[in-house]
Amino acid sequence: MLLRFLKLWMMLCFACVSSAARLDPFALRLSCGARQNVHSKPTNTLWREDFGYTGGIAANATLPSLITPPLNTLRYFPWSEGPQNCYNINKVPKGHYSIRIFFGLVGQSKDISEPLFDISIEGTQLYSLKPGWNYQIDQVFAEALVFLTNDSVSICFHSTGHGDPAILSIEIQQIDDKAYYFDPQWSQGIILRTVKRLSCGFGQSKFDVDYGGDSRGGDRFWQHIKSFGEEYESDQPRSVETRIKHASHPPNFYPETLYQSALVSTDSQPDLTYTLEVDPNRNYSIWLHFAEIDNSVTAAGQRVFNIIINDDLVFKDVDIVELSGDIYNALVLNTTVTVNGRILTIILKPKEGNLAIINAIEIFEVIMAESKTISEEVSALQTLKKALGLPPRFGWNGDPCVPQQHPWIGVDCQLNKSSGSWVIDGLGLHNQGLKGFLPDDISRLLNLQILNLSRNNIHGAIPSSLGTITSLQVLDLSYNLFSGSIPESLGQLTSLQRLNLNSNLLSGRVPATVGGRLLYRASFNFTDNAGLCGIPGLPTCGPHLSGGGKVGIGLGASFTFLLLITCSFCWWKRRQNILRAQQIAARAAPYAKARTHFSRDIQMTRHHNNYGKTSTAAENGPILLS
Ligand SMILES: *[C@@H]1O[C@H](CO)[C@@H](O)[C@H](O)[C@H]1NC(C)=O
Ligand SMILES: *[C@@H]1O[C@H](CO)[C@@H](O)[C@H](O)[C@H]1NC(C)=O
Ligand SMILES: *[C@@H]1O[C@H](CO)[C@@H](O)[C@H](O)[C@H]1NC(C)=O
Ligand SMILES: *[C@@H]1O[C@H](CO)[C@@H](O)[C@H](O)[C@H]1NC(C)=O
Ligand SMILES: *[C@@H]1O[C@H](CO)[C@@H](O)[C@H](O)[C@H]1NC(C)=O
Ligand SMILES: *[C@@H]1O[C@H](CO)[C@@H](O)[C@H](O)[C@H]1NC(C)=O
Ligand SMILES: *[C@@H]1O[C@H](CO)[C@@H](O)[C@H](O)[C@H]1NC(C)=O
Repeated sequence: MLLRFLKLWMMLCFACVSSAARLDPFALRLSCGARQNVHSKPTNTLWREDFGYTGGIAANATLPSLITPPLNTLRYFPWSEGPQNCYNINKVPKGHYSIRIFFGLVGQSKDISEPLFDISIEGTQLYSLKPGWNYQIDQVFAEALVFLTNDSVSICFHSTGHGDPAILSIEIQQIDDKAYYFDPQWSQGIILRTVKRLSCGFGQSKFDVDYGGDSRGGDRFWQHIKSFGEEYESDQPRSVETRIKHASHPPNFYPETLYQSALVSTDSQPDLTYTLEVDPNRNYSIWLHFAEIDNSVTAAGQRVFNIIINDDLVFKDVDIVELSGDIYNALVLNTTVTVNGRILTIILKPKEGNLAIINAIEIFEVIMAESKTISEEVSALQTLKKALGLPPRFGWNGDPCVPQQHPWIGVDCQLNKSSGSWVIDGLGLHNQGLKGFLPDDISRLLNLQILNLSRNNIHGAIPSSLGTITSLQVLDLSYNLFSGSIPESLGQLTSLQRLNLNSNLLSGRVPATVGGRLLYRASFNFTDNAGLCGIPGLPTCGPHLSGGGKVGIGLGASFTFLLLITCSFCWWKRRQNILRAQQIAARAAPYAKARTHFSRDIQMTRHHNNYGKTSTAAENGPILLS
């Protein structure tokens, strides 16, 4: 009996442990520039050191605002490290995430330099910092809801020439897969960037964690707003302690406290109007939160209002009590609007004799996630970066083609609409002081049309793999230190229109496949090399042989000599064989029967040998044992 009870108890326990493990959302918080893990007050939140995710320089931080996490260090990215720098964070399980990045100010520079830069996540441009960000409580961070599908995340900072990007912290927190879903545009291919999150009425600006919210909702920052009016108090704050039902529900898990305070309009100004300046020509997802907490309303029908967003009637006859089922029940309405101008206006317009109420507002920018560059070409460029010895100022971090506003220096891209990914179609690294060599991996850039490496100090051979980039139209390797001969394979480049190999150390015959075709199809320049020959305009390949040519002829002669010797030997051997065969044939016939007997004898001998072997093994047995 007791045993059975124990067993049941253990099973229950196991079930609850495993379900807890399943529900536990992934969370990673980085304190940028920190050399050890940090715990922040008052919630004892763990912030990890950021070793090994990126380059940049660690420094002491000045916190730009009261709401930033109390961290002492930051990481900044000077221009010399290239225009884009990324945190590449692995082991982030597939899922839906809230990602938040707090910015910082280096050292004591609060009033001196406020860097302005762009932020991208997984190649999608998210946000451009606006001047004055360090004075505004909700502008000191960027936040977005993102689907991660590849067990990793890349967060990049792009310099725009206004100071060095400086990052205080990065938070990656898993949220419900369906969090903030809306119809019909919503999909894994969209990113929601938080534009504004307001908690209306009495109180203070707070994070979910301060509200005691469920961690599955993320750790949202709710900026407190006491009134929508600027010049006069057009509305009044209300708050209650009464419990609110249906607040902390999936998928969004809003903190209950959010619904315990609200703004209510006044008789003199019955409309509630909220106005926000936004970036034009974008789509915005708007989430409005209500709970009937004003004791002047006790039943359905007593407070009815319309919701008008930028002149469009979006929700008609909203009755909170009716829609949510009761007073002190949470109600969330969401809609998506396209804003063409710079102003987003939300008006709550009550029916005659009523007043309007609102508890909270969330506004997100709806961003389509960017396509990426095919990984084969990304890794080819990374190999090239090393082989050519690209200076650090190039950066070449993150994705080469996206965000489209910030492609890698010298890289031209094209979107393949049918595969939905970017490919590299041009590489222009002319005049960059490159001192390395051109690796075979260049041929993995299968879509390359233009390759211009002119005026560098690139040495070594021209890789013959270049001949497999059939889309190549322009190949300019002029004014370098390329040596050896021109690979035959370049003749396969049927689209080639321009070939500049002048001013290098090339030698040997210009392959007929290259020279012949180029004569009438394309423009070319082979002059000023160490000894190219064989096409009009260059010396003939006869008397003045280059090193390569001499070796070629030497090899040819040796080969002919060897061939002669081999042939004579073969002839002699064959002759010998014929003679011997004639002798044997003369003697063979009388012995035919005897040969049959002989072969049976061999078989018997084999049999005996097998038996002998077995017995030997048996004899060996005891010896092994003793
Ligand atoms: C950062 O501040 C600490 C003391 O808080 C100091 O010891 C350290 O030298 C500072 N580092 C830099 C780079 O200024
Ligand atoms: C947002 O609104 C749409 C339609 O208006 C609704 O289907 C959806 O359930 C809402 N999303 C959430 C998370 O409540
Ligand atoms: C906004 O949404 C509309 C309709 O869903 C879409 O056609 C348009 O491309 C979107 N605009 C932007 C800037 O994403
Ligand atoms: C996913 O990550 C792996 C390794 O980090 C990489 O090889 C692959 O190309 C990535 N896939 C995509 C679609 O980004
Ligand atoms: C685009 O991608 C498709 C599918 O991967 C491929 O078949 C096609 O050749 C590509 N087109 C170009 C122009 O590269
Ligand atoms: C390659 O770049 C150089 C600049 O260094 C330019 O003069 C040249 O015209 C380019 N080559 C081609 C084929 O466009
Ligand atoms: C070919 O290259 C040489 C030197 O490398 C240069 O002087 C000449 O102008 C070039 N010819 C053409 C037609 O570009």
